[in-house]
Amino acid sequence: MQKQIVLLPGDGIGAEVIASAQEVLTAIANKADYSFSFETYDIGGVAVDKHGSPLPEETVSACSQADAVLLGAVGGPKWDQLPSHLRPERGLLGIRKALGLYANLRPVKGFPKLLDSSPLKEEIIQGSDLLIVRELTGGLYFGTPSERSKDGESVVDTLVYTKAEIERIVDKAFQSAQLRRKHLTSVDKANVLESSKLWREIVESKRASYPDVTVDHLLVDAAAMKLITNPSQFDVIVTENMFGDILSDEASVLTGSLGMLPSASLSESGIGLYEPAHGSAPDIAGKGIANPIAMILSAAMMLRYSLQMEQEAQAIETAVESIINQGYHTADLQVKEGQIVKTKEMTNLIVDFIQSIKL
Ligand code: IPM
Ligand code: MN
Repeated sequence: MQKQIVLLPGDGIGAEVIASAQEVLTAIANKADYSFSFETYDIGGVAVDKHGSPLPEETVSACSQADAVLLGAVGGPKWDQLPSHLRPERGLLGIRKALGLYANLRPVKGFPKLLDSSPLKEEIIQGSDLLIVRELTGGLYFGTPSERSKDGESVVDTLVYTKAEIERIVDKAFQSAQLRRKHLTSVDKANVLESSKLWREIVESKRASYPDVTVDHLLVDAAAMKLITNPSQFDVIVTENMFGDILSDEASVLTGSLGMLPSASLSESGIGLYEPAHGSAPDIAGKGIANPIAMILSAAMMLRYSLQMEQEAQAIETAVESIINQGYHTADLQVKEGQIVKTKEMTNLIVDFIQSIKL
């Protein structure tokens, strides 16, 4: 069977890590007697340069017809001064909205071999294994108005959530918890924000439908602290868009590098977009030293959630783990021992491992 995959490399290291994911998927396809067709479209800064828009219409239409989408990263200093509607980030927010990608799943699991690359003490991060379920198409990043007043003396951003938007992400989080250690922590700012009060009420109202899941609530400031003082207390964290954005970068410290964190963005219609949680890293773009693992693990999530290829997804995850266990890592990880490899070598090691195993 052939599946259509749209690749959106975007900016900075995006193209380098997308190329790695494509190689890994091709290796999987050869093994699994399966085939993927890849088509590449523009998004972000490169799309602004080529088409005058961070999200050209043809990109949206290709993505909506695809079986799944892989995205590298968007943004960079070159486009920082553009007016907000032309910023590369608008492309990413726009494609999430256009495809209805309301549920962003960001698993955070440390690799034992890499624990010493985290600035946190090993005994604190040992055993941490959590999933952040971030609401992705509502809240502050999408509310209007979001603008500066005419006289330039004031600004406004708007945080809007409908009940339905909160309900569907909370359901997704409960269901994710049921597949894991059955513990859900809902993170909000219910002591201040109206949106958070409603969020908490909805989580409470859903408890009875998931009796096997233990639920607790944490305010976002306390959650930020606990995430790095006692991360192993968490299983699934569910939270609104901006809190999830911030907490997931923070949680990446548990793995030693943002370069290790994959993500899946899922919709109600079935289309999914998969991207690393890291950005475009313009400082190292083009040098061939980017860590491709977050992108490769995102491709594994694509096999799991969009293509129902669980065994193949696990094969990629096993390959990554095994190469890390052999002591290989990219330069973003400050590990005392082991061998630093570049993007291409890391990709080849993972591909060779996949070729050597039985599927
Ligand atoms: C992320 C990124 C994006 C976000 C930016 C680039 C708009 O930080 O995926 O976490 O805030 O969602
Ligand atoms: Mn972010």
